[in-house]
Amino acid sequence: MADGFASREERAAFIAGLPKAELHLHIEGSLEPELMFELAQRNQVAIPFASVEEVRAAYAFSNLQDFLDIYYQGMGVLHGEQDFYDLTAAYCARAHADAVRHIEIFFDPQGHTARGIAFETVITGITRALDDAEARYGMTSKLIMCFLRHLSEADAEATLDEALPYLGRIDGVGLDSSEVGHPPSKFERVFARARGLGLKIVAHAGEEGPPAYVHEALDLLKVDRIDHGNRSLEDGALIKRLADEAMTLTVCPLSNLKLCVVDAIADHPLKTMLDAGLRATVNSDDPSYFGGYVNANYQAVADALDLSKADLVTLARNSFTGSFLGEADKAKHLAAIDAYR
Ligand code: HPA
Ligand code: ZN
Repeated sequence: MADGFASREERAAFIAGLPKAELHLHIEGSLEPELMFELAQRNQVAIPFASVEEVRAAYAFSNLQDFLDIYYQGMGVLHGEQDFYDLTAAYCARAHADAVRHIEIFFDPQGHTARGIAFETVITGITRALDDAEARYGMTSKLIMCFLRHLSEADAEATLDEALPYLGRIDGVGLDSSEVGHPPSKFERVFARARGLGLKIVAHAGEEGPPAYVHEALDLLKVDRIDHGNRSLEDGALIKRLADEAMTLTVCPLSNLKLCVVDAIADHPLKTMLDAGLRATVNSDDPSYFGGYVNANYQAVADALDLSKADLVTLARNSFTGSFLGEADKAKHLAAIDAYR
């Protein structure tokens, strides 16, 4: 048994109560099949599934694009402000149950505006639920608007224009969707404008794309964090740079398994990342589609890689130090981890 625990059960209980932040979560990817059916009925939208079991059975993916096709289809049931509220409130309740104290969540406005849903409808529903979660659970949040990289930079620019009235509620911008063939360099100008507006910068890089895309995210987009980053491990100079810069990687173990970024969870590079001095964190990405919220992700890697108490504490600490919270809030959360361990 790994250092610090007498049994796997003791480690599971430790994970369950460990104070943590979640930094890589697509709110549309938390749409559970039950809510999908409810919203399909509410909005009179046809979905190509007869039951919740049928939906879950369809969640077998061999790569990122396989998943994205179903993900964009699934979000089609989201129409009204209350739908976005219900989606976000359900996620916050799940996160709270996992001892998550702070969340930094993505939303994909282009997945909605392209269907005729107003930007205002999306952001109003999400932020109302985030406000309620803070009042109800004391859970704080940041909101990150992602650009869909399979679309054009002009489309991203237009989305940033639409966001301007809401910059008081948007903390950062990110880059997601189909990675290979859509390098960060495609979005250099729109990210420069976002940076000029004072927004934090993140980008998915090195999930399926090569280490060169991680270099571009650093050099051209000037990211504050890398989302995923797995393939950085193929480039020794890049590993050293990420470690030297204390760059946070938002790693998503069950996502990596479901999208075949790794063949088995026992092959997951999380422990290698920690041992290389990288500031890795554990996150759920799209928990409804990938089979587990944040604690299930910690649990899966803890068991497969036999993580010690020190490893788990490092991961939880990294989730706060890598967050966009202010220094006083970070210190408060780190003290809570010290009191818990
Ligand atoms: N990668 C890229 N785009 C995404 C993902 C992901 O894991 N989830 C939702 N959009
Ligand atoms: Zn993601």
